[in-house]
Amino acid sequence: MRRLLPSPHDESLSDVYGDLVLTGAVDGRSGVSLGMVSSVDGGATVAGRTADLGGDADQSAFAALRASTDAILVGAGTVQVEDYGPATGSLERRKRRVAKGLAASPRLVIVSNRLSLSADARVFADPDHPPLLVTSEQGVAARPEVAARGEVLVCGASAVDLVVALEGLASRGLGRVLCEGGPGLNASLFGQDLVDEVFLTVAPTLIGGDAPRIISPGDGHGPRPLALVALREHRSELLLHYRVVRPPADRL
Ligand SMILES: NC(=O)c1ccc[n+]([C@@H]2O[C@H](COP(=O)([O-])OP(=O)(O)OC[C@H]3O[C@@H](n4cnc5c(N)ncnc54)[C@H](OP(=O)(O)O)[C@@H]3O)[C@@H](O)[C@H]2O)c1
Repeated sequence: MRRLLPSPHDESLSDVYGDLVLTGAVDGRSGVSLGMVSSVDGGATVAGRTADLGGDADQSAFAALRASTDAILVGAGTVQVEDYGPATGSLERRKRRVAKGLAASPRLVIVSNRLSLSADARVFADPDHPPLLVTSEQGVAARPEVAARGEVLVCGASAVDLVVALEGLASRGLGRVLCEGGPGLNASLFGQDLVDEVFLTVAPTLIGGDAPRIISPGDGHGPRPLALVALREHRSELLLHYRVVRPPADRL
């Protein structure tokens, strides 16, 4: 692995983002860091999955991001397609987190208006680490058997209000939130200008076809400029870390 920015030097894969501090709570809501992988032509999936996109560098970044966050935010679609399990993590990662002053495991937070998950999904497999289900009153009423498998945070009558959700997470001490997608959830966050930084792996591959981008089309505000914080390269994979640049007036 070569770190090109800031201060170029070689480093081992296990040191990637070793000193990382994710964006914390801002304006009463949790900070949101997006962690995604795409092909060079901007595709976010191969045959509907991410498995064939990320290499060793992406896996190292994925582990380091999970080792640095209070909570993992993920859409119900990604939980289903990627067959998410509990986010307990390996003993090594738990030690790494504790050394950073974090809880041993990050809280897994699933966003879903309709709670359209199976009550038997693997994500509910560890009763000691149930996911936090960010949903609506309608979702709980429609799928009580799913609601019962996790802790529920109701954030709206028929649809989740993501600002309310992020305020709720911040008030629970989950100030640093890593959003692992998918593109649908990312579109909702970006549409409300709730993304604070981006960790993007650019996989050295072209996909073509109709693969989704890392943010689905949706109603958003205009483009947001990004400032490059760090750039790493390993066997043609690029790890990019950007922070979102907001004009000073937006922060008043
Ligand atoms: N390249 C990458 O880094 C990456 C990362 C993650 C996923 N992916 C890929 O992306 C695909 C899945 O993405 P996706 O966009 O279809 O799914 P998604 O964003 O993970 O999930 C969509 C579902 O999440 C819930 N949701 C999303 N935004 C919401 C909001 N604002 N309020 C309430 N609920 C919300 C809804 O669930 P309900 O319908 O239950 O209400 C919605 O149907 C998969 O193919 C996966 O492999 C790629």
